[in-house]
Amino acid sequence: MDKQILDSIRVDRPAPPHVPKGRVVDLGFAMGGVPNDLVDPYEPFEWLNGPDIPRLLYNMPAERMHGAVSGMGNGNWVVTHYDDIDRVYTDNEHFSNKGAAEFQRLIGETFRSIPLGVDPPEHGKYRMYLMPYFSPARISRDLEPRIRAVVVGMIEAIAAKGEVDMAWDFARVYPVRIFMGLMGFPAEMFEQFLAWEWDILHANSLEKTQAALRGVLAFLRGFIAEKEKTPDEHLVSSIVHGKIEGRAPTEEEKIGMVWFLWLGGLDTVAATISQMFRRMALQPSIQTMLRGHPELINGAVEEFLRTQPILSSARSATKDFEWHGVQIKKGDVFSCLNPAGNFDATKFANPREFDPTRKGNRHFTFIAGVHACLGAHLARRELRLLLEEWFKRIPEFQVKPGADTTVFPGLLSIRNLPLVWS
Ligand code: HEM
Repeated sequence: MDKQILDSIRVDRPAPPHVPKGRVVDLGFAMGGVPNDLVDPYEPFEWLNGPDIPRLLYNMPAERMHGAVSGMGNGNWVVTHYDDIDRVYTDNEHFSNKGAAEFQRLIGETFRSIPLGVDPPEHGKYRMYLMPYFSPARISRDLEPRIRAVVVGMIEAIAAKGEVDMAWDFARVYPVRIFMGLMGFPAEMFEQFLAWEWDILHANSLEKTQAALRGVLAFLRGFIAEKEKTPDEHLVSSIVHGKIEGRAPTEEEKIGMVWFLWLGGLDTVAATISQMFRRMALQPSIQTMLRGHPELINGAVEEFLRTQPILSSARSATKDFEWHGVQIKKGDVFSCLNPAGNFDATKFANPREFDPTRKGNRHFTFIAGVHACLGAHLARRELRLLLEEWFKRIPEFQVKPGADTTVFPGLLSIRNLPLVWS
């Protein structure tokens, strides 16, 4: 069966000469851009880590992404088995993340996206620089009271109404309000930030992406300059005035860090929340379980994350080497398909089951290795507090009858999710 599906996506497009012919496929459908209406929207990728599927496939999609950004213009290896994905994320000798997320190159900027686009050992100094602001202890002390106040206020504002557009009016707003407070950005930039981010990540128009990049970088540079003159207690100011290994950060480092936090911090939690509530609305037994057993909420957050891997990450080969009987060439790009790895039956018993009591839930939604998501503790805390406060105030909810529940299994997620309760 797996083989049949594999045969149906084989393509005859010219691939680089070192790629065996039988491995060339079109996996464009698995990159999050094709919507479906399944309760578990990641189910269509399940077969990709089956025992009959070659450990490395080579993706030659009909539609290309911006080659300048992703490095995927000439096709890429696709990694779908848990252990292989783990290797790509953790083996820094063979796999590099240099130049990752450098959308800024599209307008001729040369600064790096820090820390994501920097390899070890250099990566370590930036990680050390930023990590204290995202540690669980810091989040508990400085952020949790505010997160809870924001989420309680938002839930209380809708509780009596009996309905909300969970994706547009709640998920899109809540984490961004927390993020803007953390960074010290002015609240009135909210809609503009989201519009810029949409045009950078999803517009599919080079002109729009370039205009958004010019807009956001001009804003961030102006904001950094302002914080240089008038420091405050927020994160952008701390980045600007801190010391990296005993010296002040350079202009390139400041914009590189602030820019990448801006990019990584805006819509990832929003997409996760929308999918989480869609899943609970379509599978009310999860609501009943969590309402009756709030002690399962921590495990549920981890399980929502595992079953909703909104991003898949890429790396490039640092040298020629052989892997699984295939010749890899320096510069080859690898895309790790987290929606396959997170359901690998060799690592997760009953992988498609939503099980908040699952032990050792080492999924890849925040990846693994040195670049593991810096905002993971913050994201988890936002999700946990939302669930805790939600179940105290909102009875069983469902999707508003007639509403469209089509979802993109990825960062695009779902734009509108009308929920109702009585
Ligand atoms: C559920 C929400 C989130 C998900 C699913 C997520 C996912 C990811 C993934 C997959 C990576 C690795 C990317 C790669 O290696 O190519 C990453 C890295 C990163 N994320 Fe997140 N993220 C989330 C929330 C956040 C938030 C809220 C922030 C900041 C406020 C953030 C900041 C970062 C940073 C700075 C990195 C780079 C880490 C490094 O290179 O050392 N993320 N995230």
